Amino acid sequence: MWPYPKVVAHRGGGTLAPENTLAAMRCGLQHGFHAVEFDVMLARDGVPVLMHDAVFGRTVRGVGKVADFSAQELTAMDAGSWLGPQFAGEPVCTYQQVLEFCRRNGIWMNVEIKPAEGFEIETGRVVAQVTEEFFGAEVAAHAAGRRGAWADPALPLLSSFSFAALRAAQVAAPDIPRGFLTDVIEDDWQERLQELDAVALHTNHKYLSPMQAQAVSQAGYGLFCYTVNTPTRAREILGWGVDGFCTDRIDLIGADFPGAPG
Ligand code: G3P
Ligand code: MG
Repeated sequence: MWPYPKVVAHRGGGTLAPENTLAAMRCGLQHGFHAVEFDVMLARDGVPVLMHDAVFGRTVRGVGKVADFSAQELTAMDAGSWLGPQFAGEPVCTYQQVLEFCRRNGIWMNVEIKPAEGFEIETGRVVAQVTEEFFGAEVAAHAAGRRGAWADPALPLLSSFSFAALRAAQVAAPDIPRGFLTDVIEDDWQERLQELDAVALHTNHKYLSPMQAQAVSQAGYGLFCYTVNTPTRAREILGWGVDGFCTDRIDLIGADFPGAPG
């Protein structure tokens, strides 16, 4: 039932390249990955860019908030040298650049909407709108044939820890599928998925139990885990019925990693 790739490169190229940059996307591709997860946030001017942290200091040097800078200013910033001198000058990239890269290279996307605090609704709405515009033809085909269809693998999957962001995405672009991200699966998970008309639950594999995995699958939802970095653990959770996961160790867990045994 899960129509998407099983193994997904986390933040582009996992820990092998500077996260959420085009260099990361190229690295994932070089390792044979045609499925990628990345984080999207809004610049001051409302342009979606790839970024995990709302403040500078870790992947981009300096201090301050991402939301206080325009996309033009952000894309002039170095998001590579923190990982090593070979990545010096690798810029912050826009969501549009990554959409184009992924289309050119046949890469499926799990787009994590990562709003800065206070920008949840706007970020969800804008990311969904930009995605819908980019995938216009696929959205039309999906909407026309959606009766009985679970989700269209030609379309990306939007996900977020922010329920408000996903609600806004749902209102703006209902035909772009959604997955609800939660670190720990709470008792109300099914109501949340229903409210969002979501297709999948995304959760931290560290807190997942086999019974929870079974319940999610039995309810007809996809189950996606982050961030699984050893083949042993990957095999274990796939055996529980987990449909897909992202990994930082694209060097240890290949895109063709075997599915659940038996
Ligand atoms: O989308 C799965 C995973 O990326 C969520 O956590 O912090 O790595 O964005 P984080
Ligand atoms: Mg993420």
